[in-house]
Amino acid sequence: MVNVAVLGYGTVGSGVVEVLNTNKDIIRQKAGEELKVKYVLDLREFEGDPVSEILVHDYDVILKDKDVKIIAEAMGGEEPAYTFTKNALLAGKSVCTSNKELVAKHGAELLEIAKKNNANYFFEASVGGGIPIIRPLNQCLVADEITEISGILNGTTNYILTEMSEKGSAFEDVLKDAQDKGYAERNPEADVEGYDACRKIAILTSLVTGAQVDFEDIHTEGITRITDADFKYAKAMKASVKLLGRSKRIDGKFYSMVAPFLVKADNPLYSVNGVFNGILVHGNMVDDVMFYGQGAGKCPTASAVVSDVVDAAKNLGKNVPVVWSKNKSELGKFEECKSRFFVRMKDKGLDDDQMTTIIEAFGDVLYVKAEGVVDELAFITKEIKEAEFAEQIKRFEDVYSVIRVDF
Ligand code: HSE
Repeated sequence: MVNVAVLGYGTVGSGVVEVLNTNKDIIRQKAGEELKVKYVLDLREFEGDPVSEILVHDYDVILKDKDVKIIAEAMGGEEPAYTFTKNALLAGKSVCTSNKELVAKHGAELLEIAKKNNANYFFEASVGGGIPIIRPLNQCLVADEITEISGILNGTTNYILTEMSEKGSAFEDVLKDAQDKGYAERNPEADVEGYDACRKIAILTSLVTGAQVDFEDIHTEGITRITDADFKYAKAMKASVKLLGRSKRIDGKFYSMVAPFLVKADNPLYSVNGVFNGILVHGNMVDDVMFYGQGAGKCPTASAVVSDVVDAAKNLGKNVPVVWSKNKSELGKFEECKSRFFVRMKDKGLDDDQMTTIIEAFGDVLYVKAEGVVDELAFITKEIKEAEFAEQIKRFEDVYSVIRVDF
């Protein structure tokens, strides 16, 4: 029997206990031993819940118990999760986590500590919730040079964009509805501003490059400026707007960003709707591989944590190597990244100068019309560097919207 401790009895932590109980027999078979939850750590009391019998409030009880070999960390946030994880690994206990903030910031260091102490730091649930993506990158796809990862990495924003697209609603109305239904947090900033997706693409890019990608270095835009008019144009182009976390290898360097993109139906990410996540990986041998599923939620996320717990149980006292060094990955400069841009601006009517300035700024562009939208000019530029676009767009007043185009 292998004893496990769960840190945090919130959504994910209680899910971990539920998955281990519900699938006890199948998990025993797969792990080769019974996995028993010996402790749950939480500051709160849970009267009437059977968890009360194994509830502890003092982390030292877990840390000092030599029988606890594996810890499922489901606390979230940087502290005390960082200190608890570090001390567990130093004590030779393996840690499995869903904590993307911690993995993005301290992943390389914690992996190094795990290695030195013949333990493991696993984080399948930190990206894409229940979708297997970390283990595929570390194991199944290692024969490939990965040249691109593009993902819908945040369920909240994908739900909001899908509702806007399907119902023609405004961002604020859908956000409020999503908050009322519990799909969006009361403080939605981390999701709608793209910070959550940014940490996830930073983790994936660190694994692909084998070195540290700091999320602070990734250009990040959220979805707060997307309007119902943008979706009218998207429909006219048979496209949709998706918030993508993307890392693309060009001339030996990865260019990473998080931003809304116009995506067409021939892109598998186009059909990823609602709270679902999708991650498209391109390898130089395997070609395109798509991962799709529930990127959040109690049982999907807990399923990924427990899969790590099983892996840790199968590798007690033995480190499974993960290539992610503390050295910084050299990312390509965002300013040099090239995209096509969809631009909407006020139509100045018979003002010929506006058209001339558009040609001067961007060369030939592709004009787009949308049903029900008046007094606007909308067009798609050719591929152009970010820095050049930022410079040229300054020539125009009354720009309503700018979205990168993925076709
Ligand atoms: N807030 C995140 C999302 C939760 O909406 O995808 C999972 O990381």
